[in-house]
Amino acid sequence: MDRKAVANFVKEKLKDERTGHDFYHGERVAKLAEKMYLADYPAGELADIVYTAGFVHDVIDEKVTDNPDQSLQEVLAFLKTQQLSLDELNDIEYTITHMSYSKNIEHHYELPLIGKYVQDADRIESLGAIGIARAFQFGGKHGNLIYDPAIKPEKLVSYEQYRHHEETTINHFYEKLFHLEKLMNTTSGRAEAHRRTQFMHEFVDEFLKEWNVD
Ligand code: ADP
Ligand code: NI
Repeated sequence: MDRKAVANFVKEKLKDERTGHDFYHGERVAKLAEKMYLADYPAGELADIVYTAGFVHDVIDEKVTDNPDQSLQEVLAFLKTQQLSLDELNDIEYTITHMSYSKNIEHHYELPLIGKYVQDADRIESLGAIGIARAFQFGGKHGNLIYDPAIKPEKLVSYEQYRHHEETTINHFYEKLFHLEKLMNTTSGRAEAHRRTQFMHEFVDEFLKEWNVD
């Protein structure tokens, strides 16, 4: 496994990404997932696999590519150059194609061990200071309002609703981001998600205070 090659592959694929799923998001997910995995498994047998799955996970995302199937084929072709066993390759493929929040609203997909760390790291990236910055970048890119007290947060129950309901970025905190800490797979993921969620609550409290000119 050549980590430099993984980084170069992702850098080329995500060079035009401007919705919060850029190269550095991939790199942070790779590092965070590996760190949490190593805390639980110091021998680190799967560290390279966790790191690689984390780095490439968004290359195939429908928000990032116009053709997720083709992007998946490109990822798999790249991974085949990287001396992985068939099981490792399958675990990476299953993880990156089943880990997204949106795919798990209506079903819950059980991920392989590596996927549990990668999914937690990706969700943690939606939280904290980085999560706030990414949410506003996403909202701006999609033409959403920052906030509108007339638009009430909805309880998300389906993929279609999630992608198409009327949204504001502050509502996204209530609809999704504040719930993520309950959905963590790993103990270390849950602790970090909790810390970052508290910080986001402080941010939203301050935001509403300023909004209301209190
Ligand atoms: P997934 O790829 O797991 O389905 P999403 O696409 O929902 O996850 O989210 C990826 C990132 O985009 C997250 O950081 C999330 O906060 C942000 N995001 C998604 N939807 C919105 C939204 N409506 N408003 C603001 N940010 C959003
Ligand atoms: Ni991601």
